[in-house]
Parts: sequence; structure tokens; C-alpha cells
Amino acid sequence: MSIADFKIQWFPGHMTKAKRMMESQVKLVDVVVEMLDARIPRSSTNPMLLEVLGGKPKVIALNKTDMADAAQTDLWIDKLKKSGLTVCKVDCATGKGVKQLINAVQLAAKPVIDKWLKKGVRNRSVRVMIVGIPNVGKSTLINRLVGRTKVVAADKPGVTRGQQWVTIAKGLELLDTPGVLWPKFEDPEIGFCLAVTGAIKEDVFDREMAVELLVERLMGRYGAELEAKYGIQLTPEDTDRTVLAKIATARGCLKAGGVLDLDKVVQIVLRDFRSGKLGRFTLDEA
Ligand code: G4P
Repeated sequence: MSIADFKIQWFPGHMTKAKRMMESQVKLVDVVVEMLDARIPRSSTNPMLLEVLGGKPKVIALNKTDMADAAQTDLWIDKLKKSGLTVCKVDCATGKGVKQLINAVQLAAKPVIDKWLKKGVRNRSVRVMIVGIPNVGKSTLINRLVGRTKVVAADKPGVTRGQQWVTIAKGLELLDTPGVLWPKFEDPEIGFCLAVTGAIKEDVFDREMAVELLVERLMGRYGAELEAKYGIQLTPEDTDRTVLAKIATARGCLKAGGVLDLDKVVQIVLRDFRSGKLGRFTLDEA
């Protein structure tokens, strides 16, 4: 099977609406935090954001680092920094790196504050918002920063709930509603990465095909993790299909008559991958 066959059913109308909404939200803030998924830093970024920002400072929060390959995360951070971007490693599930992220936002806001001071504007708070694709962890970060457990992001672009400014540090106010970005799906590789990490809903892609491609990918660089997790042995002759069959056998995924239950094994592998139980993987190599 080829990655070129992997298609996402996607309606471009969403993109236009998301862009308009993002433009109006960005106007309200001084700094934008773009949250990326450390497992797929390339696929979880949105090329549209740069157009919308209009030169406003941006800080990248590389989230879910607990589920990503640590060596790849370091390579990504190096790469992003070298291209002149400000980037912080975070794990919003535990709160690791969140303080450093606030410091980075304050630093990124310094030129703005200096400009205000020159104009004689004092005591004005810096306003910040968090943007990112669905399921990247925006609400989890907002809840951590705000110290409550209620913010839920609408997972559709252009949809917001009641917005409020919340002070999260001295002189720093956060928009408590995240901006939802929609990624570009035209590239099947990006569509694949978004599908298996859970950024897009399962009704718009072929789950079996996504898992076959995932297994094929993991067999290459992370074969040892597959062997350890499912108690199987890989051989050079294995294909995604034979590996799925081995996992199905090891997990007792059988239908009546002893036929392998492919649906079930696909579900298991996807769930294990998404929850991090399978191991720490980065699909977009730095
Ligand atoms: P969103 O607003 O960008 O759409 O994402 P949200 O915060 O809702 O997070 C999506 C899922 O990712 C949540 O799991 C959340 O707990 C998880 N998550 C966020 N940050 C991290 C992280 O740094 N590491 C890990 N491992 N997970 C993270 P969920 O299963 O959808 O919900 P729940 O189990 O938290 O209820």
C-alpha cells in the first residue's frame, strides 16, 4: 500500500471560516502561542497562521512530549530554534514546561512592551491566545494556566464559546478560548499523521488503511517496541498485514471459526498508539 492512497474527506469551506475567525481573534492579542504535537511537529502546524499573524510574535509550544521520541523532540527544537523561532517543550498532561512557556511569552512580548513605554503607555497587560489544531492539547494548557478544569475547545474552526480574559501571570492576560486551526490535508502524509494521532475524526478516513500504514512505519524505526508490547517476533519478510496478523494472534483477536478479527486488532493498535501505551514515537522526522 502506498501513502499516496491515503485520503481525507475534507471540505475547504471550513478553512475559509477558520481563517476569518482567526484573523479577528489575532487582532485582540499581542502574542500568539501555537501549540504543536511533538509526535508530528510538521503535520500539526498550520501554514495559514503565518499569514494571519501579520508579524505578531509567536511562541511555539511543543506539546505531548511525553508521547514523542525524546531524541527526535530535541532535534526538532534545535531545528525550529535555528530557523529563528521561539519554541518550548511542554507536557500539559503533567504541567511540565508550562512555567518556561510563560517566561518565553513574556520575553516575546518585550518589544511590544518597549514600544508601549516609548509611547508613555504603562501598566498595560500583554494579551495572549493559544491556537492549534484539534486535540493538540489547547484546552488542557488553558486549564493549567487558568487553574480550573472547565474550558472545552470547540473542535470546529470558526466556533467559539464565551470569551474571557484571565490573568495568568503579572501583566499577562490569556484569552480563555483557544483558536482552532485546521491543518492542510492535501498532502496524504500529513493526513496520515493527523489521522493516527487523533487530530481528525475517524469518520473521514479509512481506519484500517491508517493502521496498516502506521504499522509499516513503526516496523522500520520502532520494531523493538512493537515486539515488546505485543510479545511478537518480527522477521525481514514481515509486511504490515502479517504483523497485524501476529498481533491479532497474540491478543486472541479471533472471530467465529478462528478467523482473525482485523477490525478488533486495528482498534487495539490505534488505541495503544494514541494513548502512548505502545511507546514514544515521532512520525514526522526532524
Ligand atoms: P484541544 O483543546 O486542543 O482540542 O485538546 P485537549 O486539551 O482537549 O486535549 C486532547 C487530549 O490530549 C486530551 O485527552 C488531553 O488530556 C490530552 N493531552 C493534552 N496534553 C497532553 C500531553 O502533554 N500529554 C498527553 N499524554 N496527553 C495530553 P483525552 O483522552 O481526549 O481526554 P481526557 O482523557 O483528558 O479526558
